[in-house]
Amino acid sequence: MILRDDCTARDLADELWPLRAEFRLNEGEIYLDGNSLGPVCETSFRRVNEVVETEWAKGLVRSWNSAGWMAEPTRLGDRLATLIGAQKGEVLVADTLTFLLAKLIGGALDLVPDRHIVLTDVDNFRSDIYIVEAMAARAGRPMIVKRIDRNTLDAELNEDVALVLLTHVDYRTGEMLDMKAITDKVHRAGGLMLWDFAHSTGAVPLDVEACDVDFAAGCTYKYLNAGPGAPGFMYVRKKWQGVLKNPLPGWLGHARPFDFELDYEAASGMQAWVTSSPSVISLASLDGALDVWDRATMEQVRTKSLALTDLFIELVEDRLAGVFEVVTPRDHAKRGSQVSLGHSDGYGIIQALIERGVIGDYRDPAICRFGFTPLYLRYVDVFDAVERLVEVMSSEMYREPRFAVRNSVT
Ligand SMILES: Cc1ncc(COP(=O)(O)O)c(C=O)c1O
Repeated sequence: MILRDDCTARDLADELWPLRAEFRLNEGEIYLDGNSLGPVCETSFRRVNEVVETEWAKGLVRSWNSAGWMAEPTRLGDRLATLIGAQKGEVLVADTLTFLLAKLIGGALDLVPDRHIVLTDVDNFRSDIYIVEAMAARAGRPMIVKRIDRNTLDAELNEDVALVLLTHVDYRTGEMLDMKAITDKVHRAGGLMLWDFAHSTGAVPLDVEACDVDFAAGCTYKYLNAGPGAPGFMYVRKKWQGVLKNPLPGWLGHARPFDFELDYEAASGMQAWVTSSPSVISLASLDGALDVWDRATMEQVRTKSLALTDLFIELVEDRLAGVFEVVTPRDHAKRGSQVSLGHSDGYGIIQALIERGVIGDYRDPAICRFGFTPLYLRYVDVFDAVERLVEVMSSEMYREPRFAVRNSVT
């Protein structure tokens, strides 16, 4: 049996422990939703304040030059590159994830004009499915998008497949796919591979270089803690730069934006993927949040993430045997940094749990999602969260009608 004291001892021995002080967390609350929206870091407060108070308020329009605002998307791309195993000059921070996927899909489809099939996962995040279908419909040639069971990928790959779009860690189940094996298969069939890293960046170690990934995109508001709606990031492998074209060109991706030439000529490198003005304040928040990431390695984060998720699963199985289905794979090689528990009353359970100070979320159908974020989460939080879940289940408070009222965000 696991005791609370055992968890306290593990916290005291935890190398990442000092980083918790960098986050603003509500007293008495256990935040298990950093896989949806990360909490704010002290370093983000400071950096955003500096940008607003000094660069914007005092510097005004001069700050585009004097504060280097124009270079922020590529400078922050270089900072973020280390988290995904990319080189400098391969990552851009801009737009939001769905827009970035649109750009990469559009560019990729133009690159293989003799192929007409796109494969994606029927369980993929809905935005990915909507955008890939919309972009394929505008490809300038007839295309077929197949929503497949990802386990049948081998049978679906052939010489007609232009592009495969998959999400590396499933947003509902938390299952992590084998990025190297899948990318290799797609390449052997002559296709291009685009990965969605929404639930991977800052959650699991990533090595785009070693996995020979062509393109990827992700967001910064989940595990990277850059704030609601903060810009996403995109990765284009060096070998595709200048070859893959931005299908949504804008003035700031032009080689000479302030010459205001009538005809578009792409800038070099990732700058070509910039369409419009950078969101300077949100980028400042990301800049601050990345200061915390500079103090941790992804290996430390992964080790603790697996320990936290193992602990949660073990406690749930021990204290709530037979109550929930553990949907997330137990195999470490297939687990992201969340644990999903299946229950037909999942929505009410999450609402009741939130009232008891444990913040998770709910995804249809019947999935209670809990994100485990090693930079600020303690082992003792996991213990206490399960204690409160036991209370919610044994009191049956989740059955109260008020917990059945659906919010627009679940
Ligand atoms: C897997 C996945 N892909 C895409 C998105 C869409 O992201 P955005 O709203 O930034 O476009 C999300 C959002 O949560 C997601 O979880």
